[in-house]
Amino acid sequence: MQRSDWSRIAHADLEFMGPYDETSFERLLNGAELPAGARVLDLGCGKGALLRWLASRAPIDGTGVDLHPGTRPIPGVRLVTGDARSFPADPESFDLVCSVGAVSGIGRLAALARPGGLVLLGDGYWRQPPADVYLDALEATIDDMLDWQPTLEIGAPHGLTLVRALPSSVEQWDRYEATWAANGERYAAQHPGEPGLEEFLGWIRKGRRRYTELGGRGTLGFALLLFRKDQAAP
Ligand SMILES: C[S@@+](CC[C@H](N)C(=O)[O-])C[C@H]1O[C@@H](n2cnc3c(N)ncnc32)[C@H](O)[C@@H]1O
Repeated sequence: MQRSDWSRIAHADLEFMGPYDETSFERLLNGAELPAGARVLDLGCGKGALLRWLASRAPIDGTGVDLHPGTRPIPGVRLVTGDARSFPADPESFDLVCSVGAVSGIGRLAALARPGGLVLLGDGYWRQPPADVYLDALEATIDDMLDWQPTLEIGAPHGLTLVRALPSSVEQWDRYEATWAANGERYAAQHPGEPGLEEFLGWIRKGRRRYTELGGRGTLGFALLLFRKDQAAP
C-alpha cells in the first residue's frame, strides 16, 4: 500500500470527504438560484459528490478536477485527473466555482466566477485557539487557519460578498471522524500482512487520538462559505 492510497481507503464509504453532507449543501445553497445548464467548476472534487448532488437537482455543465477523481459517471459532468492549482480555465466564465476541503485559494475561485456568479469554499478554521500539543499532532501552525470572524471576511478583498456561512456541527465532525477511523481499521483487519499496513494503522490511530484526546474536537472547525461575486469587481 502506498501513502497516496491512505485517504482513499479511509474515505471508502464516505462520498463527501469531510464533516458535511447533502443537507449541508441544501441549507447553504437554499435560495441561491443557478441558471439552467449552469457552468460549474469543482477544484479538488474528490469523488464528485457535490457535483453529483447539484446535477441531481437541475442539469449542469460541470467540471470536476482532482488528483484522484471519482470514476462513477455523473450526468453533465466531466471529471478530470489533474492538479487543480494549474488547471487551465477561462477567467470569469463559471456560474459556480467550488473548492471544498481542497487546495484552491479564495482569490483563484473569485477570478474564475463570472460577475454575479457564486463561489463556494469549504475550509477549516479555529473554533478556539489551538494548544501546542494539538498543533504538533496536526503538524500545523496557528497561522495555517483563521478564527471564525476573519474567515467570514476572506472574500471581501476579492470582490466577493458573503451570502451564507455554515459551520459543521460537532455531530457531523463526530460522525466523520468515527467513520474515517473505522474504515481504516476495518481495512487493516481484512488485509493482514499487507506491506505498509502498520504505517497506515499508525496514521489512523494518530488521527483518532488527535481528535479525541489532544483537543481536536473542540478546536478544529470546518465552514462552508457561499459568496456572490460583485457585478463590478475591484
Ligand atoms: C478532503 S478531500 C475533499 C474532496 C471533495 N471536495 C469533497 O468535499 O468530498 C480533498 C481532495 O483534494 C484533492 N487534492 C489535493 N491536492 C490537490 C491538487 N493539487 N489538485 C487537485 N486535487 C487535489 C485530493 O485528492 C482530495 O480528493
